[in-house]
Amino acid sequence: KQKKVTVSVPINIALIKYWGKRDEELMLPLNDSVSLSIDELRATTTISLVTDAAADSVCINGKEVDLGKQSRFARCFNEVRRLARKRKLDDADGDKTAPSIDGVKFVINSETNFPIEAGLASSAAGFAALAFAFGRLFHLDDTTVVRIARLGSGSACRSVLSGFVHWRAGAAADGSDCDCISLASADHWPELRAVVAVTSGDSKAMGSTRGMENTVETSTLLKHRVSNVVPDRVVRLRHAISSRDFATLANITMRDSNQLHSVCLDTHPPLMYLNEASWHLIGLVHALNDHFGATRVAYTFDAGPNCCLFAEVDFIPTLLACLLKYCPSSGSPTKILEKLDKSTAE
Ligand code: DP6
Repeated sequence: KQKKVTVSVPINIALIKYWGKRDEELMLPLNDSVSLSIDELRATTTISLVTDAAADSVCINGKEVDLGKQSRFARCFNEVRRLARKRKLDDADGDKTAPSIDGVKFVINSETNFPIEAGLASSAAGFAALAFAFGRLFHLDDTTVVRIARLGSGSACRSVLSGFVHWRAGAAADGSDCDCISLASADHWPELRAVVAVTSGDSKAMGSTRGMENTVETSTLLKHRVSNVVPDRVVRLRHAISSRDFATLANITMRDSNQLHSVCLDTHPPLMYLNEASWHLIGLVHALNDHFGATRVAYTFDAGPNCCLFAEVDFIPTLLACLLKYCPSSGSPTKILEKLDKSTAE
């Protein structure tokens, strides 16, 4: 009988963003999203099933989580307990391989190999790892693991699968058609690289959950995005992924990041997640692409100022040289363009 399991799960970065829920209890999104897992940035989680503890406990990077303030954990735990009990009832002899749940407490330890304060989708990797570990302990199928990860944090469900993942919003009220599918494994596009530029270690002004709630309540632009923009973008992005068309992937990614931050500004009161350094990076990327007469690099920002850049491997030395040379800098994008001399760019 397995009583303890350790798993490691990567973060994922959305190329087409999830922002807004159609059901907050079931954690169903308003629109589809598409992500890429970043294999090097991971959460490693151990779940132990113990009978001698008074309560469930969660420790992240050595710090105890106050479960009274974090109802998301309870939501995942309740669902796992419900499923474990149901399985015992469904199976006349009891499931001999799954551990018993009665009197059992969960002791969870999670470590990330990147700072969680940097706002790098750490909750995504954390809840995905949690769900994955529960899946291994209680023999849950992939669909159930995806659903448990989603109950923790919406974006987490995309980290359960690897490579490029499409999270489909579905339309059913009970969420039965809301699922994740793998579009391609990471080795489908081995030349693709991500560079994370940390512009601030501060924690976000307003977390994604409350932020998107406010957007759903107040933004008219969000309705346009959900109905008229995202569906077409998803089709085009899926095609760009299957044909490894970097320029199309990059342009859709940048536009979708910018639209996310536009609906944030269209929220009342507005949500401002980008800082001056973020705008500087945006300017630098467009200046670089202009300079080369082709889209060689893309940026994307979640609910925070830190930047994830995408480029193909042959462009990485140039990108890194430019980042080192022009960041941080007080120059405007036009100044950057002037400063982009041949020696750096080639
Ligand atoms: C901007 O998954 O953190 O990163 O579902 O409320 O936990 P909850 O929100 P969360 O939101 C992520 C928003 C985003 C975009 C994305 O990852 O798609």
